Amino acid sequence: MEIQHTPHHSWAEPYKIKMVELLRVTTREEREQAIREAGYNTFLLRSRDVYIDLLTDSGTSAMSDRQWAGLMMGDEAYAGSDNFYHLQDAVREYYGYKYLIPTHQGRGAEHLMSRIMIKPGDFVPGNMYFTTTRLHQELAGGNFVDVIIDQAHDPDSRHPFKGNVDMEKLDRLVQKVGADHVPYISLEGNVNMAGGQPFSMKNLRELHEYCRKHDIPIMLDATRTIENAWFIREREEGYRDKSLRVILREICDLTDGCTMSAKKDLLVNIGGFFACNDKELFIKAQNMVVVYEGLHTYGGLAGRDMEAMAIGMREAVMEEHQSARIGQVRYLGNKLRDAGVPIVNPIGSHAIFLNAREFLPHVDQDDYPAQALAAELYLEAGIRTMERGNVSAGRDPETGQNRRPALELVRLTLPRRVYTQAHLDVVAESVIDLYARRESIHGLKMTYEPEYLRFFQARFEPL
Ligand SMILES: Cc1ncc(COP(=O)(O)O)c(C=O)c1O
Repeated sequence: MEIQHTPHHSWAEPYKIKMVELLRVTTREEREQAIREAGYNTFLLRSRDVYIDLLTDSGTSAMSDRQWAGLMMGDEAYAGSDNFYHLQDAVREYYGYKYLIPTHQGRGAEHLMSRIMIKPGDFVPGNMYFTTTRLHQELAGGNFVDVIIDQAHDPDSRHPFKGNVDMEKLDRLVQKVGADHVPYISLEGNVNMAGGQPFSMKNLRELHEYCRKHDIPIMLDATRTIENAWFIREREEGYRDKSLRVILREICDLTDGCTMSAKKDLLVNIGGFFACNDKELFIKAQNMVVVYEGLHTYGGLAGRDMEAMAIGMREAVMEEHQSARIGQVRYLGNKLRDAGVPIVNPIGSHAIFLNAREFLPHVDQDDYPAQALAAELYLEAGIRTMERGNVSAGRDPETGQNRRPALELVRLTLPRRVYTQAHLDVVAESVIDLYARRESIHGLKMTYEPEYLRFFQARFEPL
């Protein structure tokens, strides 16, 4: 299927702008004060001090006029809201799972799933960790085991499906601990920490076959699975003529359930869900959700939030939406790559990841090069990004040492439908200027370290 979005071969945003939010440009002195007060942690900046905000694509999308209209259709009944049923219909139609439990966001669903499925001492294999996902697995007494292919840890590998599961690593784990101690495999679409890298359908089919044989459920982190479907269509034989909707269903049909942070693919500012096909699991989750989130027909959300999510789902599977989304990310990535800036390859769907190891080879990993680079980019141009390296990886619970992951990255994440190509030109110019004076950038010392998910609230000082 040849998808024509405009009469020309360049892609364009499949929308026009109806309302704008004004941006504030700060002075260098203002930014110096702001980052000092934030302890050199971009999570602790006030958003009013940020010019272009590439911290995250989570909950930062611009909703459509239809979604805003949907908010007005909120049925704020405590129980049995109409909007829950609209959302349930949409999940059944697009993802195909039978049972739905709404949650306030992704980690709410991760919490429920981990508590229900993991027994203390279990092992949970996954295609690379995600921060909140792994923490919930650990808090439930499980041990996360990374079974992603080795190429995912190499920022220069051009493997088209760096999100693939290494079937040998998985089998080695199952042989060692026994399938009874593997409550599920945690499979993430478009693996965030690897640079937004997809798995292939071929890999998922092998995984499905293996897991059926060993009676291990596959639980999908569906947060960016529509973006994953886009790469399958682009790169995998046999999918060129299939729609995103069809590919998405094919993925979900090979899995047993999912957790969802709807704040990404699904174009809402808040929301998530847990979904599955197994009735017993559903009943357990339905009972658990009332303890931690809210009644099972709202799970911590307002009725209007569920309506916006159902409408966002329809917009998220639109071909022209995803083409513009991924086209925009590639536009920024190509500019940086052409200028020689080290980034993770291939370019993923939601962000460009600067390779801080190569950008700042003179900064030791325990002096947090990616954290330092994120702080410096803010100082340079008021652009906010996120560290995804040694700070995010945290400490090994056994040794207490920093994990020093292979990937030491700064993530420039693009909110959906928010910034223009001109904003991206400014971002590219700022990063390129910084790269030219990279030797003047030094590391950081951590002065405050919270117990959980330290990257959110840790504080630093320049060395
Ligand atoms: C892959 C992935 N899984 C789970 C989550 C957690 O979702 P939330 O932030 O909605 O709790 C995120 C979001 O940051 C994510 O990127």
